[in-house]
Amino acid sequence: MQRRKLPFNRISVIGLGYIGLPTATVIASRGIDVVGVDVVATAVEAVNAGTVHISEPGLERLVNQVVGAGKLRAVTRPEPADAFIIAVPTPFVEAEQSETPAPDLSYIQAAAESIVPVLKPGDLVILESTSPVGTTEKLMGWLRNARADLSFPVQGELGATDVHVAYCPERILPGKALEELVANDRIIGGVSEACSLAALGLYQLFVEGDCIITDARTAELSKLTENAYRDVNIAFANEMAFICDELGVNVWELIRLANRHPRVSILNPGPGVGGHCIAVDPWFIVSSAPQQAKLIAQSRKVNDARPAYVADQVFQATQKHANPIIACLGLAFKPDIDDLRESPALDVVKELSERSDNQLLAVEPNIDSLPVELSSKGVALVSLDEALAHADIVVVLVDHSSFLDIDSGLLAGKTVVDTRGLLPRLEKQAEPVASCTTIVDIAE
Ligand SMILES: NC(=O)c1ccc[n+]([C@@H]2O[C@H](COP(=O)([O-])OP(=O)(O)OC[C@H]3O[C@@H](n4cnc5c(N)ncnc54)[C@H](O)[C@@H]3O)[C@@H](O)[C@H]2O)c1
Repeated sequence: MQRRKLPFNRISVIGLGYIGLPTATVIASRGIDVVGVDVVATAVEAVNAGTVHISEPGLERLVNQVVGAGKLRAVTRPEPADAFIIAVPTPFVEAEQSETPAPDLSYIQAAAESIVPVLKPGDLVILESTSPVGTTEKLMGWLRNARADLSFPVQGELGATDVHVAYCPERILPGKALEELVANDRIIGGVSEACSLAALGLYQLFVEGDCIITDARTAELSKLTENAYRDVNIAFANEMAFICDELGVNVWELIRLANRHPRVSILNPGPGVGGHCIAVDPWFIVSSAPQQAKLIAQSRKVNDARPAYVADQVFQATQKHANPIIACLGLAFKPDIDDLRESPALDVVKELSERSDNQLLAVEPNIDSLPVELSSKGVALVSLDEALAHADIVVVLVDHSSFLDIDSGLLAGKTVVDTRGLLPRLEKQAEPVASCTTIVDIAE
């Protein structure tokens, strides 16, 4: 396939968040002029001052470098460019009447409308936001309706058009964004072959992984499929945890044994699924194909049922103590990060604070203050030592690395609700604490 080389003298990235800002910065570090656009003025000011408003290792140093070199600047309204990469949020709207949460495409529509006045023949528009199948066509429809003077591609058709449009999903891991932006393979879904080739030319400016061409709808579904696959597999582990509690079997031991089978690899159960991708994206498949996506929908429900179940287990544990103090270890949605978005650990603590009068302590080594929904309910943010000194019930919600160093002797006399399989891991470094089930009373 011959590659059509478009000149990318200036690239614009719309949305300077966890995806857009690292992307803009890496492209600028290749010596290309990049204009970042964000509707939040403080984000724009931070970038122009050579600093960052999000937490990502190495990003601040690189932003400082490329802003200082005059290769990256930020604005609140798009300016003309040769390519526009859209990386704005795609949340879902919580379900009220219907059971399926619906995707909210209003940010993409607003981003599209904002580039309409500056779009010109020869431009390339790439959507990177995680999106339901058909969104790239919708995006193109919004652009076409506003700019009848420009020609746009038609799926599967050949022929030159003024504007090229493609969908290219992002799959970087927060915390490793700068590394993975360059190293990961990229899926490139052009609306037409010419669009794919144009987008390929852009990604080859900075991607060292393979760039694989497909059509826009397949590219949209590939991103959703990756996250739905993870969600369904976690749901299986969580369902086994429900079953084990019902049948009095230790789920951690069960999974360890089952995984001895050469073709079985069960994930770990937990208090639910969090973050803004795995807990959200499967609904984009369900909302597009509700009659077919039964397993995916059910998996979401299994995973979403975990926080309330864990809170019930904690209430069960409170029956064993007089007026117990409850310490919850971890609030983030996964280990060793500060991100509390869609965190099931946060949901558990919120539910406990709403339903119980017990004193609640929270340990989250990666944040300096509690979200207001917890602090307003009297939850106290304390150190791990303080929590272990005072608590009667310890609820393990996140397996942060610092929790793996807990001296199991400090758990003596307490009840542990272990949603992360921490206790079996502590046994390695101290006297065995107990044979482990989800709720464990540690002997004095
Ligand atoms: N964060 C991740 O790990 C990750 C990974 C893969 C894919 N994604 C997807 O990438 C997209 C962006 O995610 P994110 O984490 O960067 O979101 P984010 O909330 O961190 O950043 C989005 C930015 O877009 C800005 N914005 C909103 N509307 C705008 C508009 N009309 N014009 C200009 N700026 C606008 C916001 O102010 C914000 O700064 C989402 O679809 C997400 O699902 C995220």
